[in-house]
Amino acid sequence: MRRLLIGMGVLLLGGRCFESWCVGQDAWLSYLPLEGEAREKFQSLPAHLVVFGDSIVLRAAQAEMTRGLKRMTGKTLSVGQSVNGTAIVLGTLAEIRAAVRELAPPASLTGDGFWMATAKVHGFECLIVTSPTDRGVLYGVLALLSKVARGETIFVLNDLRQPYAPIRWVDQWDNLDGSIERGYAGPSIFFEHGSVRGDLTRASEYARLLASIGINGCTINNVNVDPRIIDDSFLPQLARIADVFRPWGVQLAVSVDLSSPRTLGGLDSFDPLDPQVVEWWRNKADKIYRQIPDFGGFVVKADSEGRAGPSSYGRSPSDAANAIARALKPHGGLLFYRAFVYDHHLDWQNLKNDRARAAYDIFHPLDGKFDDNVIIQIKYGPIDFQAREPVSPLFGVMEKTDRGIELQITQEYTGQQRHLCFLPVMWKEVLDFDLRVNDRKSAVKDLVAGKAFRRHGALIGVANVGMNQNWLGHPLAVANLYGFGRLAWDPNLSAHTIAEEWTRLTFGNDPLVVQTITGMLLASWRTYENYTGPLGAQTLTDILGSHYGPGIESSERNGWGQWHRADHEGIGMERTVATGTGYVGQYPPAIRDLYESVQTTPDELLLFFHHVPYTYRLHTGKTVIQHIYDSHYEGAEQTAEFVRQWKLLEHHVPDSLFSDVLARLEYQAGHAIVWRDAICDWFLRTSGIPDAKGRVGHHPDRIEAENMQLDGYTAMDVTPWENASGGKGIECVKASRCSASVRFTGAPGIYEMDVQYFDQNNGESKFRISVGNRPVDEWIADDHLPATKPGGDSSKRRRIPGVALSPGDEIRVEGIPGGEERAPLDYIELHATTE
Ligand code: GCU
Repeated sequence: MRRLLIGMGVLLLGGRCFESWCVGQDAWLSYLPLEGEAREKFQSLPAHLVVFGDSIVLRAAQAEMTRGLKRMTGKTLSVGQSVNGTAIVLGTLAEIRAAVRELAPPASLTGDGFWMATAKVHGFECLIVTSPTDRGVLYGVLALLSKVARGETIFVLNDLRQPYAPIRWVDQWDNLDGSIERGYAGPSIFFEHGSVRGDLTRASEYARLLASIGINGCTINNVNVDPRIIDDSFLPQLARIADVFRPWGVQLAVSVDLSSPRTLGGLDSFDPLDPQVVEWWRNKADKIYRQIPDFGGFVVKADSEGRAGPSSYGRSPSDAANAIARALKPHGGLLFYRAFVYDHHLDWQNLKNDRARAAYDIFHPLDGKFDDNVIIQIKYGPIDFQAREPVSPLFGVMEKTDRGIELQITQEYTGQQRHLCFLPVMWKEVLDFDLRVNDRKSAVKDLVAGKAFRRHGALIGVANVGMNQNWLGHPLAVANLYGFGRLAWDPNLSAHTIAEEWTRLTFGNDPLVVQTITGMLLASWRTYENYTGPLGAQTLTDILGSHYGPGIESSERNGWGQWHRADHEGIGMERTVATGTGYVGQYPPAIRDLYESVQTTPDELLLFFHHVPYTYRLHTGKTVIQHIYDSHYEGAEQTAEFVRQWKLLEHHVPDSLFSDVLARLEYQAGHAIVWRDAICDWFLRTSGIPDAKGRVGHHPDRIEAENMQLDGYTAMDVTPWENASGGKGIECVKASRCSASVRFTGAPGIYEMDVQYFDQNNGESKFRISVGNRPVDEWIADDHLPATKPGGDSSKRRRIPGVALSPGDEIRVEGIPGGEERAPLDYIELHATTE
């Protein structure tokens, strides 16, 4: 039974209840109403809430507790200041201790840690949430509500939670004009038209989400900085953002450009050792802190990808970092200096050159030279957020320097939120990796959380949420933001726990939903890796442009240094000490030895470290080339499986969500085939070694558009060739309407017809399909894929089920161009079905 209660905005699905907000802005904090037994269970909770202490953060905690319990259990809490019956009791440790002397919180409770416990207060059974900080109390309240939402018991509690690392921040790469670099979910929630938005509701909601996963800082602007961000006239606007962050315990920070003293301040230099420059930064910091007393600090990207840096004056990163850090220091501010510094004009013909070496080579000698409020922010791998990289060797050195890890929540190289790719699975591998520093256990999580070298640590995630209602574009991509926060708080959580928690909080506790979505999330990263980049060769995407579709050769013969060096004999970067670039030597001995030898290097990183012939046998017994073919076929098949799995959830999740995700998964399954074919075809042509299973290059069900009967359409070459089937497609350039037709010669029956076309973002073509004179389907190609021409970024599949075909039928595709898009078509494919 399905009823729509319009007045209440509540949708009842098969007896289950969702409110319209549950899949949107509230994300995992939607507090879905509990039902049946689960709801009953919480009716015996105290009806009274006592809050010890008063602050803007405690008020947020109180409001959240009241609102959350009301929504989930229907209970209305009355709020008071003393315990004279059973109660839920909130407050900072100091306030609670003063009021309730008999309470004995664990001695190890420190910082933003919190304690949730059931205990007697003045003789009454109470549920207590306390922390040394008001922020910790807020975290405790949100954690308690999370337990309720997931149906966990909270009647007997003694739960101490301490964050693993003190600094858990997100970075946003938002531009002042409202765009977001590598953002895939609409415009900025902070800026528009060069100013801070008038309405900061979304920024405040974002801070609430961040608080719920323990994130305590947010850098709001692009690392490729517009210097105006710290112009004096801009500071009151920044203060408005800090104001909406404050109730949620999130500190505001900004990225700054090293050349600001010159570009903004009018000085003739930005030399970090120039006293005038030092003074300029000091003044600037003072002014910021006058308006934003709890300001978090600055992030710096310098001498990287064309950004200004200390090298202009022959100075080092530590000179630059310290000059600015000293301005922040008196106010308690932090300076995050990014280790993403490399030369992007490397000579690609020199086989000893290696971008992967850069961060270690530049920063390692500076250990001990950074001030104590500087944190070196290190991407997890030595290249750039690829789907698979070894961990950065910089984590294993610099014992006298504070370091943090930078992970990427926004899916720049991992499908840009059009593909499902749950990244905590990869982050876990990174954080758990044991670098064997000094031959002792040294997991990356301990190195970056400051445990191994007893220094401050930081986990930083590049989030790039946008105005899109669900924050990250793909409704399931939000799990990456949740997962980042959970791992930053506790990297020992399993990816499974995180995926399941998120699913329950977002969609409720229906076992089918929980099991299906959790399973899909957990499988998705490996799936993505399978159909994009093999064996550590990195994501074989267009690295010079969108970073989205396949672009196998884009990494080669240029100075960017993302080389895989595939030629007709073999593939991989030789990075060994013995015969390669020497990068392997940057790891501690045990890891160096592991990667130095081709035999002990794990298969999944083989091509990152070694150049091998295509016939080289992996530990699995397969040759490299056969692995490339097989993994791409497996990956693409797994995406089709995601579609099948999601379909099981019809009527178990809200309809609009069901169809939105289904459309995305179907798109992904189509695009995975584009990836599969591009990579397999390219390696087949380059290596000359056929697929032992006979699949690559053989598509018996496929009819190439260029081989059809063309009326008005003309054949075109697609560049690079592997991004269209057969290297060619057709386009309608000379007429206002074109057609391509073919006579069906197969067995009579019902077929599924896949039409592979190109959907550019600079026009909207119309397509019509008919069989005989029967119209079968029509659509407008109006997607916003990152492409202005036919190719791997724009290639898209339209799947038409249930098409009845008999021998002799004419299948006709009619294309009507729109704008710059000339109704481009690649092929059609027919699959007999049993329907
Ligand atoms: C990547 C990304 C850039 C970004 C850079 C960085 O290269 O493509 O957009 O600016 O990383 O992290 O600084």
